[in-house]
Amino acid sequence: MVVFRGERIFRAPAHAMTHSARSVASPRVVSISDLRAIAKRRVPGSVFDYLDGGAEGEVTLRENCRVFEDVTFRPRHAVGFVECPLRTRVLGFDLAVPFLLAPVGYSRLMHPAGEVAAARAAGNAGTAYILSTISGHRLEDVKAASKGPVFYQLYLMGGRGAAEAVIDRARIAGFSALVVTIDTPVSGIRERDFRNGMKELVSGSALDKIPYLPQILAHPGWLMGYLRDGGTPPLPNVVVPGKGPMPLVDITAALAASTVTWSDLKWIREHWRGPIVVKGVLTADDARRSVDEGAAAISVSNHGGRQLDCVEASLRALPEVVKAVHGQTEILMDGGIRRGSDIIKALCLGARAVLCGRAYAYGLAAAGEAGVNRAIEILRTDLDRSLRLVGCPSVDQLDRSYVNVPANWDAD
Ligand SMILES: Cc1cc2nc3c(=O)[nH]c(=O)nc-3n(C[C@H](O)[C@H](O)[C@H](O)COP(=O)(O)O)c2cc1C
Repeated sequence: MVVFRGERIFRAPAHAMTHSARSVASPRVVSISDLRAIAKRRVPGSVFDYLDGGAEGEVTLRENCRVFEDVTFRPRHAVGFVECPLRTRVLGFDLAVPFLLAPVGYSRLMHPAGEVAAARAAGNAGTAYILSTISGHRLEDVKAASKGPVFYQLYLMGGRGAAEAVIDRARIAGFSALVVTIDTPVSGIRERDFRNGMKELVSGSALDKIPYLPQILAHPGWLMGYLRDGGTPPLPNVVVPGKGPMPLVDITAALAASTVTWSDLKWIREHWRGPIVVKGVLTADDARRSVDEGAAAISVSNHGGRQLDCVEASLRALPEVVKAVHGQTEILMDGGIRRGSDIIKALCLGARAVLCGRAYAYGLAAAGEAGVNRAIEILRTDLDRSLRLVGCPSVDQLDRSYVNVPANWDAD
């Protein structure tokens, strides 16, 4: 045990570390981009590009990260704090850190433990995990793995009957909130997935897979795990009445047939009765509409640049949304978070917490649960350090006074 600024930190002796944990320990991994580099080596190109890529020219994907450079800090120096609490409250849940793990579809492709591993890592870190509809693991198993709150992200895949069935299961399993993603009337075109044969990999026949075999065979470690796991399972949480779990044939077609509209929010609310988060808000209009439809929280999000390309970066859209909702609902944001300082900037601009997508998914692809733990640890220590450098005593005291924001951001 070591004592660090009054906090007791329990560290396992080095020899007790698993091989996976060692593979992502410092100094090999000191930042999220180091996890990304390991993920790139460990999984086939098709899986890595599915995780890493964005829609069309990937303009929004790049801008989501770059835009954080436009906001600079206004630190308060010569102040010192024994502790800098990172705790926040989201939907009434106390979270140890102001970030949640975002829904990431096909996580089981990145690592067989996929969604279960990510949920467990989130719970152990004292934060929430959001399970995607496109999960390879049963929602009951995911919930059971976590000590923390787990939310269910809903696509209406399989129709209303399938949605009502999964909502009932989520309620019984103890999920705490429903996250309704509104930016996916059809799937965005992620060109890398087409070039790499992502569809053939997850749903094609053996013959369809042949052209893509070299990149898969070049990653025997990943391939062994994938084969031991039985390949790609059908979606265990999308159970179409009378038909059973939806096979992973063509997610693009399934999504196109399941557009969620504002009128759906009403029956979803009546059926679920718990808190609803609307994910995918980028404008004041959609933010106000979400409030009118009873959203307990919204996430300012462009789906990590994977849907409509050339929309605003999430951070850039945040001030407009904050202004529009007047504190009537909790505001989260996601897109481009790679460092603790990114989280601090989003909080200064009015987000209560952020969702991290790729930041932890790179860890999952790199080293399974140990990689997710490492991603969380990096963001947490980044947050603590940045908060002290900025001179702010706790995350709940962050506000606009700690940052410079370009003048035209407030002209909206
Ligand atoms: C591989 C991948 C799969 C995703 N799958 C889903 C999904 O099933 N449902 C959803 O609402 N968002 C999904 N997202 C979007 C994330 O929830 C989140 O909005 C996005 O990753 C945030 O951007 P970031 O990756 O830069 O953190 C996915 C993102 C990635 C990278």
